[in-house]
Amino acid sequence: MTPPLAPSAPLAAVTGAEGFIGSHLVEALVAAGHRVRAMVQYNSFGSHGWLETLHPDTAANVEIVLGDVRDPGSVAGLVEGVECVYHLAALIAIPYSYQAPHSYIDTNLTGTLNVLQAVRQAQVPRMVHTSTSETYGTAQTVPIAETHPVNAQSPYAASKAGADQLVGSYVASFGIPAVTLRPFNTFGPRQSMRAVIPTVIGQLAAGAPVLKLGDLRPIRDFMFVRDTAAAFLTVGTAPAEQVVGQVFNAGTGVEVSVGELVRLVVELMGSEATVEEDPQRLRPAGSEVMRLLCDATRLREATGWKPEHTLEAGLEHTIRFFRDPANLARYKTSAYNI
Ligand SMILES: NC(=O)c1ccc[n+]([C@@H]2O[C@H](COP(=O)([O-])OP(=O)(O)OC[C@H]3O[C@@H](n4cnc5c(N)ncnc54)[C@H](O)[C@@H]3O)[C@@H](O)[C@H]2O)c1
Repeated sequence: MTPPLAPSAPLAAVTGAEGFIGSHLVEALVAAGHRVRAMVQYNSFGSHGWLETLHPDTAANVEIVLGDVRDPGSVAGLVEGVECVYHLAALIAIPYSYQAPHSYIDTNLTGTLNVLQAVRQAQVPRMVHTSTSETYGTAQTVPIAETHPVNAQSPYAASKAGADQLVGSYVASFGIPAVTLRPFNTFGPRQSMRAVIPTVIGQLAAGAPVLKLGDLRPIRDFMFVRDTAAAFLTVGTAPAEQVVGQVFNAGTGVEVSVGELVRLVVELMGSEATVEEDPQRLRPAGSEVMRLLCDATRLREATGWKPEHTLEAGLEHTIRFFRDPANLARYKTSAYNI
């Protein structure tokens, strides 16, 4: 066992730490010598999500704080004395945002307001806010740079776009040292089966002869989660003059249609499964974002960050994760997860 980091090591706070990207970010932070105060959303099961699977050496540097970004008091306690707050907590599923839009405003918009207020009050030196490529809507020009218009096509995207505006307004009005990172589609181990890559790999790993999927036409820029975590760390630790007050895309600059992606995964997994369109998985036509392709030039030029994993390499890691029966057992592979 490696000894824990010294109490003098920098302390970062992470909201959404128990989730998919959050748990990888926690690992990346600790690996880079940061102690982490991790907000886990309070729940009656006592679950700490994916933080329960951290290596003990990593877990020794992580303080778990139960809370809720909708509650100003629990956010205020989280950020006290930290060098940077990485704000990832959000409701992220697009289909569920059709059903429960108010909860998206409460979590994604009011939650972000609470983080901004807490950062302002505690004079936290850096905040990284998490946006999403979904705020752009279907690409009007490609690749998509940060100057591309914002056009929310789902209540989820609208709640994130609103949160981005709030962050910009706090930078302008109060000089909050915030950076907005706008990741394009991220995939990897621990992702929920609401996303297409885990849906395909999870069904195949469970031995399904027929893959049930939604629309195969949309085009996406898929980035491996460790590259996304590295982008967070980069904007959280870069000199302020390089990043503060700015919005940065993070993506690979490589596009693939969902149909092509499915063929690639089927091939990598040596499967003979066929594909069946499942109507309940289709988004309303006007809400489906048909094409997202990232231009991450701004981030690369400001910080030197660039993705290190090809799509195939990231898929291999993800397939290994889902083929482990202990991991697969955590998923409902035959159901449509929203
Ligand atoms: N996955 C992607 O492809 C992708 C792409 C772009 C942006 N993002 C953004 O990255 C962030 C993380 O997404 P993810 O894919 O890891 O999803 P996730 O659902 O795994 O993580 C979200 C986390 O937020 C937590 N959370 C939800 N409501 C909360 C509340 N009220 N208080 C405290 N915590 C709460 C959840 O428990 C969960 O751990 C989100 O802000 C999302 O919008 C994700």
